[in-house]
Amino acid sequence: MPISKKQSWHIEPPWGLLNDPNGLVWYKGNYYAFFQWNRFAKDHSSKAWGFATSPDLVHWQFRGSALLPDQLYDAQGVYSGSALEIDGRLCLYYTGNAKQQGRRISHQCLAISTDGRHFRKEGPLFAAPAGYTGHFRDPKVLAVLQGGYQMVVGAQRDNGLGAVVLYTSPDGFRWSYGGVVGTSREYQMIECPELFRLEDAPVLLYCPQHRDNAADTSLDSFSVGRVLDQGPDASRPLDLDTGWQRLDEGFDFYAPQTFRTPDGRRILFAWMSRLEGEAETAFGAGEPRIHCLTMPRELFRRGQRLCQRPVRELRELPGTPVPGETTESGRLYRPFRRAFRFTATELAAERNLDLTLHEGEWSFHYDAAAHTVTVERRCWTGPGQDTRTVPLSALSSLELWCDQSSAELFLNGGEQVFSARIWPASSQASLLIAGLPPESPVQLTLLPDD
Ligand code: FRU
Repeated sequence: MPISKKQSWHIEPPWGLLNDPNGLVWYKGNYYAFFQWNRFAKDHSSKAWGFATSPDLVHWQFRGSALLPDQLYDAQGVYSGSALEIDGRLCLYYTGNAKQQGRRISHQCLAISTDGRHFRKEGPLFAAPAGYTGHFRDPKVLAVLQGGYQMVVGAQRDNGLGAVVLYTSPDGFRWSYGGVVGTSREYQMIECPELFRLEDAPVLLYCPQHRDNAADTSLDSFSVGRVLDQGPDASRPLDLDTGWQRLDEGFDFYAPQTFRTPDGRRILFAWMSRLEGEAETAFGAGEPRIHCLTMPRELFRRGQRLCQRPVRELRELPGTPVPGETTESGRLYRPFRRAFRFTATELAAERNLDLTLHEGEWSFHYDAAAHTVTVERRCWTGPGQDTRTVPLSALSSLELWCDQSSAELFLNGGEQVFSARIWPASSQASLLIAGLPPESPVQLTLLPDD
């Protein structure tokens, strides 16, 4: 009997394909998570905005679609974008993707809601400026301290190389070109850029992409962030190829987006998927849906480093502690359910440590001598493993959050994060930890699954 991959507390659609988080916002007493949604098939053929709402970032109600590709200017997709409340109205900024005689045309568009349920399209705000191809998308809007608004857009220049472009507006409706935030000499496209202030420093997030333009297939994409010395300065565009950190080292993390909660926290969601393979693999077979968003994480800084921790609301969920047993191979937990959180603190930096989840569906190894961590998961595309090794000078704590078919690992209080979908092959939920110092506090807590 196949084991269900449907998750307990991650946002995923009832059917179809989900990709980027869009329009994250708090509006009239609820959190909104919009997302790219193909409601017809588990592929990228038709993109609308679906959405879910929540009073608490934990319990989400799926609400259906908000914006459909039903206008000439967005007929080939209501692509990614963002949301902002302006004078009580919920403003959704998105890319209208269209094709004319096979050529891609993009507009940054606006839709408005006053009740958070009905969305009225206002039409295109502006087209891509001269010097850019039709790969011009993913508007992220920010209210700025001095009054007015800024928008960053992901772009490809006519020379086939990526850029992030700035627009400004006094009111959120009339936009003017504000110059280039940064350019790349290596990547052909920059997707999903975002600019905001975090603990009083400007931060830029973006997704560099190597793409084969002719075939229009993405080849290699990942998500990065960097703390900037100063806000964007069009007279001195940033070099987007250097100075960044990867936001996540797991296998499935892309197109992150953040928003500010009423109490001032900056919360991040990302698309948790692998970019290739998808529905045709064994992972998608027999399932009505594919892909989900990551758990919501609070973004914070340790100096120049961007760190993430699971939101307080998830941490405060009442859970049931599960005792472990000591075996020859290490400490073994059998939590009966695949939705749980595991924490281990006061770890010994000089000692190797191993975690094995669900009999090897996913595993983690800390090599104290080499100062590296390696994460592996069993592949679903055939025999073998996906493996990633990254440097880590010393391991002091870890926190692993598991839902039915996902694992999100936070090391050293969120300095390093690994997010992965996992292929549920074992009917027996289990976690084995080996190399644990006897005095290290550990706890496995079952999470509610309603
Ligand atoms: C990133 C992305 C965006 C685009 C959207 C389309 O995953 O390619 O650049 O707006 O997905 O679904």
